[in-house]
Amino acid sequence: MEVLILPTAEDLAREGAARIADLVRSRPDSVLGVATGSSPQGIYQRLAQQVRDGSLSFAEASAFALDEYVGLPREHPQSYAEVIRRTVTEPLQLNPQRVHVPDGRASDLAAAARAYESSIEDAGGIDLQLLGIGGNGHIGFNEPVSSMASRTRVKTLTPRTRQDNARFFADESQVPVHCLTMGLGTILQARRLLLVAQGRGKASAVAAAVEGPLTAMVPASALQLHPHATVLLDEDAASKLQLRDYYRFAQEHAGEVG
Ligand code: GLP
Repeated sequence: MEVLILPTAEDLAREGAARIADLVRSRPDSVLGVATGSSPQGIYQRLAQQVRDGSLSFAEASAFALDEYVGLPREHPQSYAEVIRRTVTEPLQLNPQRVHVPDGRASDLAAAARAYESSIEDAGGIDLQLLGIGGNGHIGFNEPVSSMASRTRVKTLTPRTRQDNARFFADESQVPVHCLTMGLGTILQARRLLLVAQGRGKASAVAAAVEGPLTAMVPASALQLHPHATVLLDEDAASKLQLRDYYRFAQEHAGEVG
């Protein structure tokens, strides 16, 4: 696992955006896995800036969102279809036809989940999956004890996740109870993973995911199984890592060999 510790959230955004921009420049029809939440917003904003100044184009790229609430109307401002449209599709000028979000309104959710897996496969798989991390170690909406082999499916949100996400709704009772989320097995199939975390509130989850045992209790520990996973952290999010000095040392000597 590559662990990069950078001084500020702006540095994270710059580094994350540079990695995605490099990928899309080298392969304009890249398939991106995109995340909601506050963590990737700085990255999206920087990429949008490059799109506006004409130095980058997502016109041929595709995107797959990690997850969606079950039961919210599509146009609800907090449905992930709407959040992705507002924060990714429009600012990055992606073709909306090539932006996919699981269908949390489907009458047959299991069929919608299978269809989502098929559309990822039909697109050739995900080149780079961007991830945030929940305070309880979830990625996507894979809550603790999600199977490492799980595929897109319905999950029940934990009370903690519903509390954490209540800030986006009038009150906690409005936060849906269920979601559709890519599974950990789905996420692990992406060719690259890029997890971004900032702030002290993420420090315990990050330490458990990066340095703790591989365990379904910490879904983000699944990154330990991936051959090309990068974790981008600011100082606060990195503050509970035991091997901080080693990660910095490795960072300083990156690119010297091979
Ligand atoms: C939500 C999303 C996750 C996201 C997490 C962290 O629960 N389903 O994909 O990573 O929140 O959000 P934030 O980045 O706002 O802390």
